[in-house]
Amino acid sequence: MIVVKIGGSAITDKSAFRKPKLEVIDGIARDIAEVKKRIILVHGAGSFGHPLVVKYKLKEVEDLKGIAEAHLSCKDLNMLVCRAMVKWGLKPYPIHPFSNFRVEGGKIVFDKTLILNSMKKDFIPVLHGDIVFNSDLNRFVILSGDDITIELAKVFRVGKVGFATDVDGVYVDGKLADVVTSKDLEKIGSSVGIDVTGGMRSKVEKILRSGVKARIFNVSRLKDFLMCKDVGTLISEIL
Ligand code: IPE
Repeated sequence: MIVVKIGGSAITDKSAFRKPKLEVIDGIARDIAEVKKRIILVHGAGSFGHPLVVKYKLKEVEDLKGIAEAHLSCKDLNMLVCRAMVKWGLKPYPIHPFSNFRVEGGKIVFDKTLILNSMKKDFIPVLHGDIVFNSDLNRFVILSGDDITIELAKVFRVGKVGFATDVDGVYVDGKLADVVTSKDLEKIGSSVGIDVTGGMRSKVEKILRSGVKARIFNVSRLKDFLMCKDVGTLISEIL
């Protein structure tokens, strides 16, 4: 099984509000259709999510209208992804964390059977960064697609985990790295634009902390990644 997260910056134009990169979305669906592998797809929110989190100050206040707006907007992007998949003959199974996931006891809680059953029927689960209820805090919080991806990788013991982005990998001291471990963290460059769930360094840090081995690569290399080629940067403490 493969879990791959497509970053919001890869499938949306982060400099404009709710602007999808339709050709990229189409290419992703085509790549997945061509390789015919068992995958779980997760995508980010990009300019369909982050600007609304900022507008409604969702990190600071629990604005229910803003929460609904942000969720629906993420869902709109999910719809574009799923429609492209159907166009290429795939069977997407959208799972919206807003109504299917929660955070409890510091953990992401969700119905694993729902995902497995859909895969048994040859569906491809398609999840996304969203807003979810946090029972510990008794409020809604933002849950990034990165966190979902890492959790899925751990729960399903996934051997192949990837993060497709709009950059070629992780830059250490300004140079594209083949492998990154925790000793490189300080030297990782940060991303530009609004990102309410953190930039490249925090993404790498999260992956390393989770113990999951993952690759960060350019979305243009998605097909190569799915075909088990060594694309982008490997994030791993142990080689
Ligand atoms: C963020 O999801 C979710 C919201 C902003 C509601 P991600 O953190 O996975 O999105 P990207 O990949 O950074 O755009």
